Amino acid sequence: MQIVKTVEEVRAQVKAWKKEGLSVGLVPTMGYLHEGHKSLIDRAVKENDRVVVSDFVNPTQFGPNEDLATYPRDLDRDAKLCEEAGADLIFNPEPENMYAKDACTYITMEDVSLTKNLCGKTRPIHFRGVCTVVGKLFLIVAPDRAYFGQKDAQQLAVIKRMVRDLNFDVEIVGCPIIREEDGLAKSSRNTYLSAEERQAALILSKSLNKGRKLVEAGERDAKTVIKAIEDEIATEPMAKIDYVQIVNFDNIEDIDTLTGNILCAMAVYIGKTRLIDNFIMEV
Ligand code: PAJ
Repeated sequence: MQIVKTVEEVRAQVKAWKKEGLSVGLVPTMGYLHEGHKSLIDRAVKENDRVVVSDFVNPTQFGPNEDLATYPRDLDRDAKLCEEAGADLIFNPEPENMYAKDACTYITMEDVSLTKNLCGKTRPIHFRGVCTVVGKLFLIVAPDRAYFGQKDAQQLAVIKRMVRDLNFDVEIVGCPIIREEDGLAKSSRNTYLSAEERQAALILSKSLNKGRKLVEAGERDAKTVIKAIEDEIATEPMAKIDYVQIVNFDNIEDIDTLTGNILCAMAVYIGKTRLIDNFIMEV
């Protein structure tokens, strides 16, 4: 497995693979890889001849008061996981190699729920950064398929729309959420949690399960489901809700009556750490 730092090297390698008629899968990540990332790499290895994992803490998707500086990084550990999973290349650029000092071209979406609702409410520039870096990665790697987790369901919906709107020639593959045994969704940010907070963080999956059961039992009123989830979260004193919402998964618009492909999503602070979780259901 190669670890490559420059855009030019990735391009040259992918060109060589394509010349041989090999298919290429891309797994975009910000590193500090865990089982959730690994599930994406495993799937990419199964479905493609060659797999590129990008490992880049993308500065443009972090707001000024967010955790860019403290975001965990460990390339050696990431390389081991990628190698074991059967990836062929890690692309680990320096920020100055990805963004020229005077870079001023971004991929933005119009003022739509896709980027303004849910996480977009508290993270106004986040999806501009995500779209820009993912768009750049698509242009650099030119993958046949790219793999994204439903853990970041809004991101998945945004990327699907970007690919459709801009005719990127790539198939977007959504992959299920990988959880710890006790239900906590795996996340690089879980490392921020103290032992006590780690326990309190279970309230996310626990309350979502409560909501899911209500929907499965036939409840179709979004407000009722949201209230039940919020009441459950309120039982955990360390938890502070950022949002609990139910939206249409395709356009991330709020819905009152549950029908179609629904996304029930939450962001909850456990201490200073903001965690997200969700479920998607066809009703
Ligand atoms: P990162 O948070 O590192 O996540 C990389 C990919 O792994 C995303 O598609 C995410 O949804 C997926 N993932 C994370 N935890 C998961 C879990 N528990 N189960 C399944 N999949 C999981 O998302 C990003 O990085 C960035 O925004 C990126 C797309 C790389 C652009 O910078």
